[in-house]
Amino acid sequence: MCGIVGYLGEERAAPVLLDGLEKLEYRGYDSAGVALWQDKKIAVVRRKGRVCELVCARSLAGNAGVGHTRWATHGAPSERNAHPHRFGAVCLVHNGILENAAALKEECLARGEVFSSDTDSEVAAHLMNAFLAEESDLLRAVKRACELLSGSYAFAVLAEGREEIVCARMHSPLVVARGTDGVFAASDLCAVAAEGRSAYVLEDGEFARLTKEGAELFDSALRPVERTFFALAAQQAAPEKGSFAHFMRKEIEEVPSAIENTLSGLPDLLNSHLYEVLCQTEYLHIVACGTAYHSGLCMKAVVEKFARVPTQVFVASEYRYCDPIVPEHTLTVAISQSGETADTLAAAQLALERGSRLLAVTNVEHSSLNRLAQHVLPTRAGREVAVAATKSFNAQLAVLYSLAAALAAGRGRRVPSPAALAVLARETLCASGRVAAWTPYFQGARSVFFLGRGADRCAALEGSLKLKEISYLPSEGYAAGELKHGTLALVDGATPVVAVITDPQLADKTMNAVHEVYARGAAVFLVTPFEELCAAQEVTASVRIPRCEPAYSPILSVIPLQLLAYHVSLALGHDPDKPRNLAKSVTVE
Ligand code: M6R
Repeated sequence: MCGIVGYLGEERAAPVLLDGLEKLEYRGYDSAGVALWQDKKIAVVRRKGRVCELVCARSLAGNAGVGHTRWATHGAPSERNAHPHRFGAVCLVHNGILENAAALKEECLARGEVFSSDTDSEVAAHLMNAFLAEESDLLRAVKRACELLSGSYAFAVLAEGREEIVCARMHSPLVVARGTDGVFAASDLCAVAAEGRSAYVLEDGEFARLTKEGAELFDSALRPVERTFFALAAQQAAPEKGSFAHFMRKEIEEVPSAIENTLSGLPDLLNSHLYEVLCQTEYLHIVACGTAYHSGLCMKAVVEKFARVPTQVFVASEYRYCDPIVPEHTLTVAISQSGETADTLAAAQLALERGSRLLAVTNVEHSSLNRLAQHVLPTRAGREVAVAATKSFNAQLAVLYSLAAALAAGRGRRVPSPAALAVLARETLCASGRVAAWTPYFQGARSVFFLGRGADRCAALEGSLKLKEISYLPSEGYAAGELKHGTLALVDGATPVVAVITDPQLADKTMNAVHEVYARGAAVFLVTPFEELCAAQEVTASVRIPRCEPAYSPILSVIPLQLLAYHVSLALGHDPDKPRNLAKSVTVE
């Protein structure tokens, strides 16, 4: 994680860097810093906390510099661990994890070098400084240092006396952009889309050198290479909050249009090259993390119900180390909002190596996962800024349900059309406003349970993740029937329970669990299309959502759960957009 940005051009660099960092704050926000190249010297300003703490740096002179917003991996969030890190003539910002930093640091210490931070990143500055003394060429010095590093990195490096920025990439995203007034580097297009005209996403092992003459690219052997820069479009720029207090609230409001745009933007799967692949698919594997993993669980319910294709859903960080069995004719679907999640990328790579075909479902066009996959189905949720995933989840489900329908069609099976889901999501959003009134029951809770069966369990898992992520309340999503096998011991009057019941065939069964928790003093909150259940005496409050095919229902039932998490977070005085300890894009292992 962490966001890095670099600029060299005719403008003053400080405002460009700070504006870029603000757009990258979703990647980490525990400390921030900038380094500016001024009259052959480098001035550094670093602060603990958010990018706004760097306000004093805005007036600094200098037309070249690098900046960083941090999500701490090695070393506590503090000013001394904030980037940029300087050693000797070299000053750098880093995104990634240097796995052999401890051993390399020992060697530096043995040479008598002194470290001024607890980070893994600083060791790279020491190595580059040593090689710069030998090479007198920053690009070569950076390359030689990179040869010694294992792990992941995106670097932007300055050196005293040289008006240039050298960039390197390995397993961490880095883009280079050309604008009218200069050249840029950044972790994400959104940081450069306002001022850059065209951009190139570096491949692993590639280097870039930014100078007044422009951006030069080099392969892993430092041979100059020509690459095609694509035009930067307005939609790649960072969105604004508009009249909403928080991005998360705005993004929940955008759920219906995210579904609508995604469904209308999908290719005709039955007449595409992918259809042949789907017809040949005998096993479906899904790899993903967090919310995207929950999307995978929702897809499994639909695929197995309608297409009868055996489906396994893997937490990507487990898949990559579980020596997975990948039978012939397996299609692996890697789901990721960002397309940059390190564990998902590694799992996808492993699936390819084991002979699977790979389909990516992402929300970011030029992401690493899209470039890795043989097939891509985009979600068109629009940029998601809040750390908690909301509209991207619903958009993922729109793609995955359509994919499931195509898989079923390939086997001559009929599936209800997902076409009406955007309209139903709009109705659900209207009905969900009442969850704001539930918050007093959750503010004082010791823990919270979300219950459901079948597809409703998937929605419960996602509702629980949302709540814990932004309210910091201990919360669990649970199979309603499993509760009595131990976990019921935790339920009492300080444990609100949210039940999701959308499948008429399972409603009575889940209501059994509702009776059980009510009998132990829990206040019960219900999300359901069934009016009679809302009237039950055990139910403290409810949201009635529209009816739809039960296997599709998480795309609707999650909406009140997303809103509930938002309101509880606010009531507890937290920032729902930037929960503690987290970052939006998890590009480290
Ligand atoms: O970008 P990705 O979809 O790959 O991200 C995966 C998870 O890190 C992400 O869904 C995370 O769980 C969200 N913060 C949950 O709201």
